[in-house]
Amino acid sequence: MTDYEKLKRDINDRLGIDLNAYKEQQMRRRINQWLDRYDLTSYNGLIRKIDEDPEHRAKFVEYLTINTSNFFRDSSVFKVIEEQVLPAISKHNRPRIWSAGASIGAEIYSIAILMKEYGFTPGQLFATDLDEVILRKAQEGVYLANQITGMDKKYLDKYFLSQSDGTWAITESIKRQVSFKKHDLLKDPYERNFDLILCRNVFIYFTSETQARLIKNFVQSLKPNGYFIVGSAEQIMDPASFGLQRVSYCIYQKTA
Ligand SMILES: C[S@@+](CC[C@H](N)C(=O)[O-])C[C@H]1O[C@@H](n2cnc3c(N)ncnc32)[C@H](O)[C@@H]1O
Repeated sequence: MTDYEKLKRDINDRLGIDLNAYKEQQMRRRINQWLDRYDLTSYNGLIRKIDEDPEHRAKFVEYLTINTSNFFRDSSVFKVIEEQVLPAISKHNRPRIWSAGASIGAEIYSIAILMKEYGFTPGQLFATDLDEVILRKAQEGVYLANQITGMDKKYLDKYFLSQSDGTWAITESIKRQVSFKKHDLLKDPYERNFDLILCRNVFIYFTSETQARLIKNFVQSLKPNGYFIVGSAEQIMDPASFGLQRVSYCIYQKTA
């Protein structure tokens, strides 16, 4: 067994993260950068540190899972969501919407803001992530100034409260619409009957086989004509082979 194979096994045992599903070269580079940053000289040293220091362990999970996110990330995609997707799925029932790999909650809260702003039928909004620390942050809904850059000022004034320590707290009316839950896209069963699933900037880090497996799962979880939205670096090459058709940049619809 090579050092990296042993590290993969140790990380899976301790953190429940299966590195086999991630692109190896990229992951090795990231882990080596972490070793340099903390003056760790070997994978064994890293595992010892994870075992001994819960704070290091939490920080490493956060680093490994890369949870950068913003409100209204990819404005051109959000424009289509606002003008086309939300009106279509809100026509009949309360739409079921899932942000998979939700990170700090910026994506699902952006959707909740749009639904409120445009008077769409309030949805059932779900947000999941593998990382429990980031999920707690999402549930708290308190953001640093650099996490809300690019947001339209009218939304900031209406849906956030400025706090004395310089942070911004999302209003209760938006927060209470979202249910947060821990979910590992690689291991846990997927719920069904969604009108819209967003899984953006999550599977770029996975191998192409894993990406295909996940896309199949997502398609099964969509209602007929449901929408599936991916990140800008995650375009689906042959959507028809998954039972999807391309609607717009990054946006797909289940064909049956
Ligand atoms: C770069 S963030 C994307 C956040 C948001 N979707 C966006 O586009 O702004 C990737 C998120 O995917 C989560 N993630 C990584 N692997 C995962 C897995 N196997 N299951 C669930 N979430 C995962 C990470 O914890 C991280 O919060």
